[in-house]
Amino acid sequence: MGLGGGETVISGQEMKKAFNAFDSAFEAGIRHFDLADIYNGGRSEVVFGKWLQMNPSIRKEIFIQSKCGIQLHVGPLNSSFYNFSPQYIINQVEKSLAQIQINTLDMLFLHRPDPLARAEDLKDVFLLLKSTGKVQNFGVSNMSAGQIEWISRATGEPVKANQIQFGLGHALMLDHQAQVNTYTGNGYGLEGMQQYSMMHNIELQAWRPLDKGRFLSIHADSSACEYETSGLLKKVAEKYDVSPSAVALNWVMQVPNGIAPVIGTTNPSRIKALAQALDFEITREEWYSLWITARDKKLP
Ligand SMILES: NC(=O)c1ccc[n+]([C@@H]2O[C@H](COP(=O)([O-])OP(=O)(O)OC[C@H]3O[C@@H](n4cnc5c(N)ncnc54)[C@H](OP(=O)(O)O)[C@@H]3O)[C@@H](O)[C@H]2O)c1
Repeated sequence: MGLGGGETVISGQEMKKAFNAFDSAFEAGIRHFDLADIYNGGRSEVVFGKWLQMNPSIRKEIFIQSKCGIQLHVGPLNSSFYNFSPQYIINQVEKSLAQIQINTLDMLFLHRPDPLARAEDLKDVFLLLKSTGKVQNFGVSNMSAGQIEWISRATGEPVKANQIQFGLGHALMLDHQAQVNTYTGNGYGLEGMQQYSMMHNIELQAWRPLDKGRFLSIHADSSACEYETSGLLKKVAEKYDVSPSAVALNWVMQVPNGIAPVIGTTNPSRIKALAQALDFEITREEWYSLWITARDKKLP
C-alpha cells in the first residue's frame, strides 16, 4: 500500500525501495500480493508492474489481487464515495491491469460496501469481467456476512475472500463473540463472520495485522497496555527464538480459519522477520494471554 511514493512522478529512489521490498518478500517465500487502484494514486500498482516486467517468469508462481470501488476524497468534508456502478468497476479493473501490465487479476476485491449497488448491475459486471478473462475470482473487503451473502446471490459467483481489519490491536471479530449475552456486545458488522466464512469456504485476510507496529515500536507516548503487550510479545518471542512481530502475526494465524495476514511493512529485514511466523505455533495459554493483554480488558 505504501509503495510508489507521494509524488506524481515515481523517483528512482522510490522505485529501488519498491523493488527491494518485492524481492525481499519473494525471497521470504511470499507469493501473494495485495494491491488496490487507490494505493498511492495507482503508483503501487505501477511499481509492482515494473518489478514484474523485470521478473516475467514469476507471474505463474504468484497470486495478484487488487481492489476497486472507493473514490478517494471526492465528496464533502474530503470524504470518499463508494462506487460499484458497472462502468466504474470496468474502468478501474482495466486501469489496474494496464498499471500492473498483466492480462488478468487472480482476484478482484470490492473494497468497501456501496449502499447504492444494484444486484442486476453487479451480476452483469462480474459476468463480463469473468467471461473476458480480466478477473479470475471475486472477493470483498470490510463486509459483513449479510453483504457477502447478497453479493454472491446477486451475481451467482462465490465470494472467495473477505479482507477485514484484524490483529492483536483490532480483534473486533473475536471480541464481540466473547461479549454474547452481555450488555457490551457490539460486533461492528462482524457478527458470526468467523463461523460464516468457515461454513462458506471464504478466506479471511487480515489487513493491518500488526496495527502499524503499535505493540512493536514502543515510544514515550505508548500506553501502559502497549508496553505490557510489547513485553509479553518479547517474552514469547524469546521462547521460540523468533521476532516479536512474528509472534503477533502467529497470533492472527492461529485462529482456526487460517487467517491470511496482509503485511504492510516495506522494510526488507522486517519482511524477513515476519516470515518466521510460519515456523512455530504459540500455545493456547500464550494466545489468550496476548489477546487479553492487548484488549486491556478481562474476558467476561
Ligand atoms: N482492505 C482494506 O480496507 C485495507 C486497508 C488498509 C490496508 N490494507 C492492506 O493491508 C496491508 C497492510 O496494512 P498496514 O500497512 O496498515 O499494516 P501493518 O502490517 O499492521 O503495518 C505496517 C506499517 O507498520 C510499520 N511498522 C512499525 N513497526 C513495525 C514492525 N516492528 N514490524 C512491522 N511493521 C512495522 C511499517 O513501517 P515500515 O514500512 O517502515 O516497516 C508499516 O508502515 C496494506 O499494505 C494493504 O495492502 C487493506
